[in-house]
Amino acid sequence: MALEVRAAERGDLGPIVAIYNHYVERSPVTFDLVRVRTGERTEWLAQHVQRGPHRILVAVEGRTVVGWASTSPFRSRPGYATTVESSVYCRPRSCGRGVGSRLYDELFRSIQDEDVERIVAGIALPNPASIALHRRFGFRPVGTFTRAGRKFGRYWDVAWFERPLAIPPVGPEEEGRGRDPRPNRPRPPGGATGRVRGEGFEPTNPYGTRP
Ligand SMILES: CC(C)(COP(=O)(O)OP(=O)(O)OC[C@H]1O[C@@H](n2cnc3c(N)ncnc32)[C@H](O)[C@@H]1OP(=O)(O)O)[C@@H](O)C(=O)NCCC(=O)NCCS
Repeated sequence: MALEVRAAERGDLGPIVAIYNHYVERSPVTFDLVRVRTGERTEWLAQHVQRGPHRILVAVEGRTVVGWASTSPFRSRPGYATTVESSVYCRPRSCGRGVGSRLYDELFRSIQDEDVERIVAGIALPNPASIALHRRFGFRPVGTFTRAGRKFGRYWDVAWFERPLAIPPVGPEEEGRGRDPRPNRPRPPGGATGRVRGEGFEPTNPYGTRP
């Protein structure tokens, strides 16, 4: 079935929240601890209009919302306005089928003309799918906060990633391999999950303490 990606509407809030609540209850990928109610998200949706740096997109198959992605304020102080934080959630049975990639592709295109300098994302570890997705879209790891969150009775490390809004130019390693037919898809030299020289990214607790 064809996948459509479009701006979220009021009628999408129910499925958006249902997808999110699945992870609230079962996963450390979000540090919300109790289910979110649809009504609590009305204002949030209104703040993500179809213009400006803050957006919510949904991926729809037929009439079913199978995933959503957003760019939101990173921090509230005005000097941070040029940084947005991205989030993406697919319903479990739709994971691993390219939905997240479609969402990010459209999301980052939608803000290309906005006054945004950096897109950042925090990923509770481990989450290989999310790390692969972010690397696929040109995010680079900037560091890991250890034991940054507590959920399900244990602490979790959170790796932070960043990318410029504009796609970085293709590096010399990529030259001669032909252009990637998918726009907005810079390939890191180490591959989606490979290490990139000089990044020093280590997705474990450097202090060696147990979660
Ligand atoms: C993370 C998530 C949004 C990725 O979206 P997706 O539709 O599953 O990912 P895609 O199919 O577009 O694949 C994107 C990349 O992730 C890789 N990937 C997908 N599932 C994976 C898995 N389970 N393990 C490792 N890599 C995986 C793909 O191979 C692809 O990598 P490539 O560029 O090297 O080919 C989705 O899996 C999800 O919603 N997970 C649960 C919620 C979550 O973790 N959200 C992010 C919070 S930070």
